This record gives sequence, C-alpha cells and structure tokens, in this order.
Amino acid sequence: MSKNPKPKIIGFLCNWCAYAGADLAGVSRLQYPPDLRIIRVMCSGRIDPVFIFRAFKLKADGVLVLGCHPGDCHYQSGNYYAARKAKFITKVLQMCGIESERFMLDWVSAAEGPRFAEVVSDFTRRIQNLPPINETDELEKKAELSLKVAETERLRWLIGKEADLTTQGNVYNELIDQKQFDKIMDKNIRESFLMHQIRSLIVDNPLKPSEIAEGLNISAKEAFRLLLKMEDSGLVAQHDMQDRYPRFVQG
Ligand code: FES
Repeated sequence: MSKNPKPKIIGFLCNWCAYAGADLAGVSRLQYPPDLRIIRVMCSGRIDPVFIFRAFKLKADGVLVLGCHPGDCHYQSGNYYAARKAKFITKVLQMCGIESERFMLDWVSAAEGPRFAEVVSDFTRRIQNLPPINETDELEKKAELSLKVAETERLRWLIGKEADLTTQGNVYNELIDQKQFDKIMDKNIRESFLMHQIRSLIVDNPLKPSEIAEGLNISAKEAFRLLLKMEDSGLVAQHDMQDRYPRFVQG
C-alpha cells in the first residue's frame, strides 16, 4: 500500500515537446495517473530552480520537469541549461534533508505519447511511496529552508554563470573545469545552508559561536568564520559579550 495514495505533483512541460506529448497521450486515450498538475513553459531552460522549491514550499509532493530530448531544444541549448539546474536542485534537496527523488527532469518528444504516460506513471508511483510533504512540521521546515538556500544571490549567480565559466572561461579567460566548478558549488550550497541555519538558531536568543557550533554539529572555528562573513553582510550582529565571547543575534 502506498504511503501517499493521492500525491500532489507539479509538472513543468516544455511547450514544443513534452506538452505536445501529453496532448498526444490524451488524444490516444492512454491511461496515466491524474495527479499531475501541468504548467506549460516555452522551454525547460526557462525553469528557475526557485520555481521548484517554491512548489515544495506550497506543499507539492513531487515536481517533474519534462523538456525536449538533448539536441532537439527549439532554442538550441535550453535543455542543457535545465540539466545543469537539475543537478543544483538535487544537491540543495539533499543538503536540506528532502528526498531528492521528489524531483525529476526527463525528456519527452511531441511524438512520444506512450512515453509521456509511462514517465508520469513511474514518477507518480515513486512519489506515492514517499510520505506527504506536509506530513510533519519538520518536512515543511526543510522545504522552507531549501527555498531560502535556492534564493541565495551568490548561488543564483553561480548557476547563471556555470555554462560560461566551464566552457568559455572567466573574465581573465581562465577555464574552470567541471569538477572544480562542482566543488565551488558544493561549498557554496553548504555555506548558504549553514548560514540560514545559524540565522534560525539565533532568531530569539543570542548565542556564542561555540553554542552555534554545537547546535549545528560543526567546528567552533567554522561557526566563527561564518559568523564573521555574515556580520560583514549584515546578516548577524554582535549582541553582547558573555564569558569573554561575543553573542550574536540576527542582523
Ligand atoms: S524548447 Fe523544449 S526544452 Fe527547449
């Protein structure tokens, strides 16, 4: 028996391929689960990762993005951008403790009605086997946190620049290889995740770096480094001194 027999699933479908594939599935009277709420977009590359996390925050149990097959995008490379963003989305979900299976990017052409029905059926089964996203407060909080992380300005900049930095290089014509870029991205996702966690820890009561470190299970050195960085950008402020150590509050 599935854990969530009636999941809410949002599907972002590219107008030129997957949406037409869905249409064909309908015209051909193919059977597939009715749990998908479809949003038509002009290209899978139009999907901003924030859309996905906002859907989870609004209690979607799963989000599916369907675009044209690689090489078939009507805007040439939109689906390659979508694939890069999908990698980022999966990482943020994992970092925030949300099952990454709740999100999937796949390709369906206009002629693939049966494939559309199959992809939707498989994804629905997968989501039915997970608990509803609003089952616990904890899961809802994780969804909220993932949205905040995805909205971080630096991360958004990195996503936008990934293709340029890894294929054409930076302003000094230095090419960043994909592995190196992934490392930079991972570090920034973790940092942003921790910064948001720190802010929620000190929302009501000022804390010392060692207390924050203990609460987040990180080293005091890392907590202090992050606090200094956050203080520079006004995200936290020093409240007072206790036992010769500063206590921080939200800035
Ligand atoms: S037009 Fe379909 S993915 Fe770009």
